[in-house]
Amino acid sequence: MAKQRVAVLISGRGSNMMALIEAAKEPSYPAEIVLVVSNQPDAAGLALAQGEGVPSAIVDHRPYGKDRAAFERLLQDTLEEHRVELVCLAGFMRLLTPGFVLRWHGRMLNIHPSLLPLFPGLDPHGQALQAGVKISGATVHFVIPEADAGPIVAQAAVAVCESDSAETLAERVLAVEHRLYPLALALVAGGRVQMVGNRCRVDGAHHDVDAALIVPEI
Ligand code: GRF
Repeated sequence: MAKQRVAVLISGRGSNMMALIEAAKEPSYPAEIVLVVSNQPDAAGLALAQGEGVPSAIVDHRPYGKDRAAFERLLQDTLEEHRVELVCLAGFMRLLTPGFVLRWHGRMLNIHPSLLPLFPGLDPHGQALQAGVKISGATVHFVIPEADAGPIVAQAAVAVCESDSAETLAERVLAVEHRLYPLALALVAGGRVQMVGNRCRVDGAHHDVDAALIVPEI
């Protein structure tokens, strides 16, 4: 099967982007990262992508002001130029219009650092601490017009510690994000994920059904 051509969209640090680039170096990985796009000209991730020899593009949203459609036309053209088949949002801090999202329906993924549908939007770790949950984590999902929602491909759980701040929790969740996103992309690019309504069915999914993360352990 031909490798799926993937673009990673970023706005900043790009650590998830790097995890995807690293994973895609494996010859048997079903996707290749053919493009990194940033809407922020000074995103740190751009230099990382360049260092890896991955083509990158800046599609700056600012000249377009409130005209999201015009910004997205340029984004779409850039993706088409590189014959992109799948899009991975990785810390991409722009809301996309329903028109753009629906165009990429079933072909665009996002990672969010909470166990969705809990704590969508800004400051998910602060929200998790505020709610007092004992377990949080990360979610990779297909993108739908509603932000931080859509059929869930894969999730990873992390224990919340008594002493956690939003920063320490974010750090531990980020470490599992870097394992989760490459796994989820491999499943999607490998044709193993079927969207059924608002859910995903994953072919050949296996896990230890008896394994439980119990917090706290006493
Ligand atoms: C990650 O926590 C991701 O889940 C969220 O934004 C952060 C991006 O970090 N959407 P990075 O740019 O991938 O390092």
